[in-house]
Amino acid sequence: MALPTTLLLSRLNLSHNNNHTIRLFTALSSKLFTPHNSLYHRRFFKSSNSTTPNCSKTLGSSLLFNDNNNLVVLGIETSCDDTAAAVVNSNGEILSQVVSSQADLLARYGGIAPKMAEEAHAQVIDQVVQDALDKAKLTEADLSAVAVTIGPGLSLCLRVGVQKARKIAATYQLPIVGVHHMEAHAIVARLCDRDLQFPFMALLISGGHNLIVLARDLGQYLQLGTTIDDAIGEAYEKSAKWLGLDLRRSGGPAIEELARQGDAQSVKFSVPMKQHKDCNFSYAGLKTQVKLAIESEKIDAGIPFSSASSEDQRARADIAASFQRVAVLHLEEKCERAIQWALEIEPSINHLVVSGGVASNQYVRARLNEVVARNSLKLVCPPPSLCTDNGVMIAWTGIENFRLGRFDPPPPAIEPEDCQLDLRPRWPLDEEYERGRSIARSMRTARIHPSLTALTQASQYQSS
Ligand code: KG4
Ligand code: ZN
Repeated sequence: MALPTTLLLSRLNLSHNNNHTIRLFTALSSKLFTPHNSLYHRRFFKSSNSTTPNCSKTLGSSLLFNDNNNLVVLGIETSCDDTAAAVVNSNGEILSQVVSSQADLLARYGGIAPKMAEEAHAQVIDQVVQDALDKAKLTEADLSAVAVTIGPGLSLCLRVGVQKARKIAATYQLPIVGVHHMEAHAIVARLCDRDLQFPFMALLISGGHNLIVLARDLGQYLQLGTTIDDAIGEAYEKSAKWLGLDLRRSGGPAIEELARQGDAQSVKFSVPMKQHKDCNFSYAGLKTQVKLAIESEKIDAGIPFSSASSEDQRARADIAASFQRVAVLHLEEKCERAIQWALEIEPSINHLVVSGGVASNQYVRARLNEVVARNSLKLVCPPPSLCTDNGVMIAWTGIENFRLGRFDPPPPAIEPEDCQLDLRPRWPLDEEYERGRSIARSMRTARIHPSLTALTQASQYQSS
């Protein structure tokens, strides 16, 4: 029986195509000096048997990337509930940014149903990409590469973006960069602050992740802490839902806004994991505390906030404010410790990046700014539109990876029907720091893919 043909987005699986990748990069490095020349591209990618100089030592970006040669990269993001595309160039200029949100669907059904999310992505992906190109006043032929999220995320949703990226890459013979969604949340900070050098720390807080890492280099992260259950964004979402808030802009902003009207000291929620002297997080217990407080106040989520009595509105605002204070206090406490750990490992660290959807919250930013200042570090927080899921972070991370030769050749014009895409729904970013290992989490988490860091290290080992 014939085995299915596997067409991988394999920039990090260099073990089985290392020579090809090196060959590809060598030729593409010439392309860097003739940008936007798709004919050149086409010629190169078809000549798979060209002679290959031994150039593995020259794979570093500094030798082959020339900043005078502007790369223009389309980034596509569909890992969760936003369909996003953007065009960014290697000078760090955002030429366009388009996001189509599924918040309406979320509000209607109270959560993400993967099949529905997939359909919603499929309905808008062509338009979102076209709008991104139009706003940038470019066509696909002007692009240097396409970058796309390959994980982590919902498999059905990732597929929509990856198929679109491959179609464009195949038609216009463009290299393709598979991007790690959480790496992109961190790396976009280097677009916002061009002085941000490795190593730095990053706190990545979103709907599905709560990670604190030491970013040693592109593709190399050390995990200082993670969540043992829910992420902070999930706690914001559920609290907003149970408080009967308008979820059309997602739960986080709704809680943030309501919390401004409440008394943050009024409900005595306990701070999670106080007794754990590590940098891990837990939000499941706080979620339960919020639910119990809502029940004890007899708040009916079926009555929208705007229709509730003023007394009821006050009770809801107090719960929102108290929840937010404790949820963020938990971040503050763990960040304090993580900074100490990180400075012991890498005393040269100067920055803490805070990114991911929850980092767009002004209260979160203000509190973390104090933590960072106390420790003589600098906070780098991308603007809110670059903290929530977006195509810019994918395009920029694509550019950074491309510069290091981490990309794949264009897919064939006609993909075989049994083609299996390299989607990585559960793809860790980092290797765990021994001191921060969470037994509870390690037992629960099946690591389906080797982490980005392990793959990067393996590829470097092979090319050295
Ligand atoms: O990074 P992101 O856009 O998507 C994921 O990768 O999950 O993060 C989405 C999360 C949601 O849980 C949303 O409620 C939360 O970020 N969020 C906020 C705010 N804006 C978005 N949480 C608190 N305050 C906000 N202003
Ligand atoms: Zn995200």
